[in-house]
Amino acid sequence: MLAAESRAATVPATPIPESPYAWKQIVEPVEPFLEAVTDRLALQVREFDDGLADYAEYALNGQGKQLRPALVGLSALASGQITEAHVTVAVVIEMVHLATLVHDDVMDEAELRRGQLTLAAQWGNEAAVLFGDCLFARALTLAAGFPTPEICRAVAQSTQTVCSGEILQNQQRGNFQLSRPDYFRILEMKTAELFALSCDLGAFLNGATAGRRAAFRRFGLALGTAYQVYDDCLDLFGSELAAGKSLGSDLAKGKLTLPVLLFLERAAAPERSRLEGLVREWHPRCIGEAVELLNRHDALAESLEVFHQQTEKARDALGSLHSARGGLLGLTAYLSRQADVLGGCV
Ligand code: IPE
Ligand code: IPE
Ligand code: MG
Ligand code: MG
Repeated sequence: MLAAESRAATVPATPIPESPYAWKQIVEPVEPFLEAVTDRLALQVREFDDGLADYAEYALNGQGKQLRPALVGLSALASGQITEAHVTVAVVIEMVHLATLVHDDVMDEAELRRGQLTLAAQWGNEAAVLFGDCLFARALTLAAGFPTPEICRAVAQSTQTVCSGEILQNQQRGNFQLSRPDYFRILEMKTAELFALSCDLGAFLNGATAGRRAAFRRFGLALGTAYQVYDDCLDLFGSELAAGKSLGSDLAKGKLTLPVLLFLERAAAPERSRLEGLVREWHPRCIGEAVELLNRHDALAESLEVFHQQTEKARDALGSLHSARGGLLGLTAYLSRQADVLGGCV
């Protein structure tokens, strides 16, 4: 379903609240850090022109899961200590992430994000595009405040990669020949890059060597890829109420994600042309038939298998790090648990 049923809808975007994988427990070692990030994000509202205050408050106070700040904090703990600089880096990365979401919701014509109307649904596409630009710019200004240019350069490079990934994805819309390597390259660019940056900078600020930074980066890339595979499954098989955001927009926009690619690899010609027809003449009521076609070829279970291969790769990347990597492993286990819930395995 592309749009939320009610424009006034507000639903909590809560992570799964079960132990032993409960989110609170996973982020417990970095809880004061995440609170500091939340407070510092709220303070950023003042850095925008008064005429933008409504947008800034709305965007910066909306509660996301804070996955990227959690990665900064847990990577800091896995490489030394959490410092004030880690808070700033987490705020910068979360603002870049937020800017990409504000723009992504315009492109996807999404109505719900983080349990509330998207900025575009509330104030229109023009305000959303321009305010998204302001968020990018503010994040880079903040990053430029570090005494060395390395952080700002890394953030700017990753931001360019993320936006380029979104563009490449747009260029591939409706391409039924999209290859798996091309799909994974887009995922790495649009999503995994910010995960990798979060882990890398978390370690960099503790003076990690190039070799250790590379391990943190590999972990982030694999976990971020896994996360986008999970999210792509969620878009087709999940519930908007639980996710707190509009779902179903990938097929509506002609974005062929892993479950669809797997289906296209396995299905016979008539089934493939049926799905292609549905996507080309898309209407939200087609989602049921599309999912039924995907289910015939176990597209969800097979995609989650790929998700688990990526989390395995992430765990392997941490192998060379010392025992303080426990928090990052816990976060990986938490995301695996969410994927298993979606797959109906728990
Ligand atoms: C949403 O990211 C965009 C994707 C990469 C799938 P999150 O799922 O981390 O969104 P928030 O920050 O919790 O809202
Ligand atoms: C967006 O991917 C990733 C970004 C870089 C913003 P999606 O389009 O799948 O994210 P959601 O599902 O809208 O959160
Ligand atoms: Mg989207
Ligand atoms: Mg998605």
